[in-house]
Amino acid sequence: MEIMKHLIFVLVGSFMTYLSQPLVVVDPTYPELQKEAFAILVNKCNDCHKKEKPQAVFTSENMDDYARKINRQVFVFKRMPQGKDIKLTKEEKQTLKSWIKAVKRK
Ligand code: HEC
Repeated sequence: MEIMKHLIFVLVGSFMTYLSQPLVVVDPTYPELQKEAFAILVNKCNDCHKKEKPQAVFTSENMDDYARKINRQVFVFKRMPQGKDIKLTKEEKQTLKSWIKAVKRK
């Protein structure tokens, strides 16, 4: 019985915390998405950028500022990743898209 009481307290407690959040739509998965997107940028983009476009090497700090440009280069103009050797998988594209959306909502 004690355990039930405890559980109910915890549930009510989390619900109250939930209610007290300001009503802005924040994507709860944002930090996770950013982490996954960063891993893609490191694996598929940064090696080449370090050599050929050193002003635009992505870091976890600057990547959100690049989100719009990345959207344009990868999804609108389809110029990136440059060259024939490096391709993004379907999953990687989906992750980048979701991350870009989440950045726009911030
Ligand atoms: C094989 C080389 C290469 C790869 C791989 C590559 N890029 Fe690039 N990228 C370049 C070069 C060179 C430029 C600068 C010249 C240009 O815009 O074509 C550039 C420019 C850019 C720019 C514009 C930067 C600015 O400040 O205007 C963005 C955004 C970009 N790349 C995103 C990406 C992303 C995202 C990936 C990975 C998914 C990627 N690139 C992979 C070579 C590469």
